[in-house]
Amino acid sequence: MEIFEDCIIGKIPMKNRLIRSATHDGLADPVTQGPTDELIRKYVYLAKNDVGCIIQGYAIVSPDGRSNYPRCLGFYDPRAAEGYKKLTAAVHEYGTPIVAQLAHCGRQTSSKAIGIRKIAPTAKRHLLYPDKAREMTKDDILRVENDFVDAIVRAKEYGFDGVQLHLAHGYLLHDFVSENGNKRTDEYGGSLENRMRIVKEILTKAREKVGEYPIWVKLSATDKRSKGMRTDYSLKVAKLLETYGVDAIEVSCGSVQDGMNTMRSKRFPMDAIFAYREPLASMPSFLNRAVLAAAKLFNPLIPQPKPLELYNLPAAVELQKAVKTDIILVGGVASLSDMQKAIGSGIDAVSMCRPFICEPDFARKLKEGKSTQSKCIMCNCCGLVIEKEPVRCLMGKVKYPLKKS
Ligand SMILES: Cc1cc2nc3c(=O)[nH]c(=O)nc-3n(C[C@H](O)[C@H](O)[C@H](O)COP(=O)(O)O)c2cc1C
Ligand code: SF4
Repeated sequence: MEIFEDCIIGKIPMKNRLIRSATHDGLADPVTQGPTDELIRKYVYLAKNDVGCIIQGYAIVSPDGRSNYPRCLGFYDPRAAEGYKKLTAAVHEYGTPIVAQLAHCGRQTSSKAIGIRKIAPTAKRHLLYPDKAREMTKDDILRVENDFVDAIVRAKEYGFDGVQLHLAHGYLLHDFVSENGNKRTDEYGGSLENRMRIVKEILTKAREKVGEYPIWVKLSATDKRSKGMRTDYSLKVAKLLETYGVDAIEVSCGSVQDGMNTMRSKRFPMDAIFAYREPLASMPSFLNRAVLAAAKLFNPLIPQPKPLELYNLPAAVELQKAVKTDIILVGGVASLSDMQKAIGSGIDAVSMCRPFICEPDFARKLKEGKSTQSKCIMCNCCGLVIEKEPVRCLMGKVKYPLKKS
């Protein structure tokens, strides 16, 4: 297999095996939660510059699943239809497919920010979002399933080439699948099959309405939570996903409370944390600076997950051997040699997030032989910027004072 060749991944034809992994861009319309012209221009630029496929940043399927990041995309308001149709048509002009990632935040949001009591499979506190969620009733589960199905139907109608269900990074469906987040004793918990029931029911209902339309999954194959995801358990999850008719699995890792496991870095981006994360960002500036200085002293002593490159490759290779479903690798893919190693190991496609934030024309540079290594320094500042503003690359440097958003 070559990186730059026509291929079909998860039933979607692509011109190469390089995918833009879902990235929250913070550019949704504040009223409809649909795409703005600014977001459309950004995706057109990626498409023009040879990305094989774009996975749109996560779009929320139900009002009680909203993110507390500003200007997150949503898929539940019909007023967003026009913007989505404009987006998919614009990207298709360049022969690039686009997939809608669909999510419900579950415990990883705050009730105050979304204005509704947040919900989860089990009413368990989250380290970073400490207000307690309400345990979902069976009616809640069926309603959320239907919201996912409605969103899949809308994605097809809006012209997306497929959807990706977000079963990763600690969001609602990840919590259902993992024993860490799911302590239920009814038919939606207790055994692997029961924990997977919500996913199975979404797929069964969706298939009745959209037929063979491509449905992908992003899966945290491993995380650091106790009784969380481990590769041997994820293999069983992947086999069930295969029997449910999932067309591709993007192998990721971690949950938001794992620290920087999903997007690995040598150190926490302390300047960005103190500039963008509340309540730190709103501290009086002398206090903010004093605590920041102390945190920076300790930062090198805080252990970070390793390795920093290709960190989901071992799990992805295991999954690839176990199922016929196409496997996409994300996480620490930043050079041509990383890509060749992954594809050479039998992985069907690689996806990248930070390299495309840093250089949206990275795929073209690779194709034309103008680059073999991303310029991204994996500082993770962009992951903090989105707590207040649209995503952008800071290259490790936070400029004070911040512009008022
Ligand atoms: C700013 C930012 C926004 C992200 N938004 C999403 C998202 O909307 N959905 C998702 O599944 N992952 C999201 N991620 C995680 C990435 O898709 C990816 O899994 C992770 O960054 C590792 O890949 P990388 O090493 O290529 O950055 C985001 C990461 C960053 C840095
Ligand atoms: S801020 Fe820029 S350099 Fe740092 S991780 Fe994000 S994209 Fe890479």
